[in-house]
Amino acid sequence: MKFAVLSGLILACLANVSIAEAKVNDLASFHNDKGNGCKTCHKVAGKVADDSESYINQQCKSCHGGYDKLKNPQLAIDPHNSHLGDINCTSCHKGHEKPVFYCNECHSFDIGAKIPFADAKAKEPWDAKWDQEKSSKLSPPVPKSRRMSSLSVPVAPAITPPLPPNKRAPK
Ligand code: HEC
Ligand code: HEC
Ligand code: HEC
Ligand code: HEC
Repeated sequence: MKFAVLSGLILACLANVSIAEAKVNDLASFHNDKGNGCKTCHKVAGKVADDSESYINQQCKSCHGGYDKLKNPQLAIDPHNSHLGDINCTSCHKGHEKPVFYCNECHSFDIGAKIPFADAKAKEPWDAKWDQEKSSKLSPPVPKSRRMSSLSVPVAPAITPPLPPNKRAPK
């Protein structure tokens, strides 16, 4: 892994391409030179200032003008004019990964492929490197005497209050 990264760096240097110029084809890379680098979309460069992405979406709309300006009556299915109303641009246009055509969570429209940067890299799932077999080998087996099944937990006696004389079964 380290070797691959290192040789990638060396190759990039040999080809006289600085790392900053080695662009990936996603929305963020495309926009970095359209405004103010990372701050085109982020409040603080390199940091996500707002979990809800509302700041980022405000930025999209301030340049692109929002749905009123984006809608296109020529389209049979318009991603920018739907019953979902004023949704986040980032429901579909992802910053650093493959976009998602959100409408198709429910529909199966075929316009999804037209979304810009559709060929951007998909983000690796968080558990992509999880190796169940390897990790189960890492923890040594628990000795028999320590296993839950060998622990005897005293059972508390049930506490039944004596019945009042009038509720007792007749003798
Ligand atoms: C076109 C707008 C845009 C630009 C420009 C941009 N980002 Fe982002 N960034 C986003 C969006 C949207 C997200 C939310 C996650 C996503 O969609 O990938 C995000 C998320 C992040 C995250 C959170 C981790 C993650 O991937 O979810 C980091 C860190 C980040 N950006 C760093 C940067 C840096 C560093 C730059 C400049 C090199 C930059 N961004 C430029 C839009 C942008
Ligand atoms: C600083 C202004 C600015 C901001 C902020 C901005 N954009 Fe852009 N965006 C541009 C410009 C300029 C272009 C290029 C327009 C052109 O080529 O016609 C562009 C192009 C695009 C394109 C089309 C790319 C293509 O291949 O044709 C998409 C999609 C897009 N922006 C979405 C977004 C989204 C989503 C956000 C917010 C995460 C955003 N933009 C934020 C200025 C901005
Ligand atoms: C439901 C998914 C979805 C959402 C949400 C969305 N877009 Fe798009 N966007 C698309 C698709 C699909 C295309 C490609 C349309 C086509 O070419 O037919 C596109 C294209 C674009 C383009 C390229 C020019 C154009 O109009 O085709 C820009 C710019 C853009 N979107 C900006 C935005 C901005 C800004 C927002 C938020 C205000 C936004 N989009 C919200 C799906 C979406
Ligand atoms: C959460 C699910 C959901 C999402 C996401 C969604 N829709 Fe819908 N949509 C529906 C439902 C439900 C109906 C009503 C279906 C019916 O009446 O047959 C509908 C109806 C429609 C219709 C009219 C009926 C048809 O199929 O021609 C259009 C057009 C439409 N949606 C477009 C969109 C677009 C564009 C998006 C993305 C911007 C979108 N929808 C996202 C659930 C969704």
